[in-house]
Amino acid sequence: GRQGCQIDFENVSFAYEGASGDPVLKNISFTCLPGETIGIIGSTGSGKSSLVSLIPRFYDTSAGTIRVDGVDIGKLDPAKLRDQIAIVPQKSILFSGTIEENLRWGNEHATLDEIIQAAKMAEAHGFITSFPEGYETMLGQRGVNLSGGQKQRLSIARALVRKPDVLILDDCTSALDTTTETNIKESLKSFASGVTCLLIAQRITSVMDADKIIVMDDGEIVGIGTHEMLMKSCRVYVEIFQS
Ligand code: GTP
Repeated sequence: GRQGCQIDFENVSFAYEGASGDPVLKNISFTCLPGETIGIIGSTGSGKSSLVSLIPRFYDTSAGTIRVDGVDIGKLDPAKLRDQIAIVPQKSILFSGTIEENLRWGNEHATLDEIIQAAKMAEAHGFITSFPEGYETMLGQRGVNLSGGQKQRLSIARALVRKPDVLILDDCTSALDTTTETNIKESLKSFASGVTCLLIAQRITSVMDADKIIVMDDGEIVGIGTHEMLMKSCRVYVEIFQS
């Protein structure tokens, strides 16, 4: 099992190459302690996906420093860094093949037991075993048609098979009902020795119980705190809550 990592952002700014105008992220600073769950919320285009994409160095910062367990990620081997961090993207990427093959993708050495354990945590084992062929069920053109929520659960399971230190869920629980979402979050809490989790969401209910919530607006952090704190102190958060 792995331990969650600490993540520190210190005055991070970021602009996409060749893009004109304001940077997409401006002066972002926060700390995520090992094993914590941080919720990230904010209107569309506020910079949430850009922010998390800097952690595995899909892009490099324009200014400022990001540290993982105290080490500047600019000095880390990107391949090693990406081995510790799993991002579940907004749109799940499943290919033609069996469910087992899809879940093993990115971690070819995983055993079927590990795959089943991950699927159980992602609330996917139930619907998988309801198919006559179970984990051998074909996906894709000649295979079964999955609902959006089922695809999201498979994507989350695939990320968990890798036993990452840092799990980033980029708005990939939007098609799940709140009960399923809550069950997955409960499983994550007991996952290994505690994964560090960043959870981008549209709905306040998805992030309400996070250790901290970051509120993004136009590339800036306009609030950090618990739900109760933000309801008292952050106008943007209250607006999202009421919308
Ligand atoms: P949603 O996913 O819609 O909720 O938005 P978000 O809060 O995740 O914002 P995101 O980080 O995706 O985008 C922030 C800004 O960066 C927006 O103005 C985007 O148009 C811009 N942006 C995102 N990706 C790219 C990219 O690959 N290239 C360029 N040039 N701009 C981008």
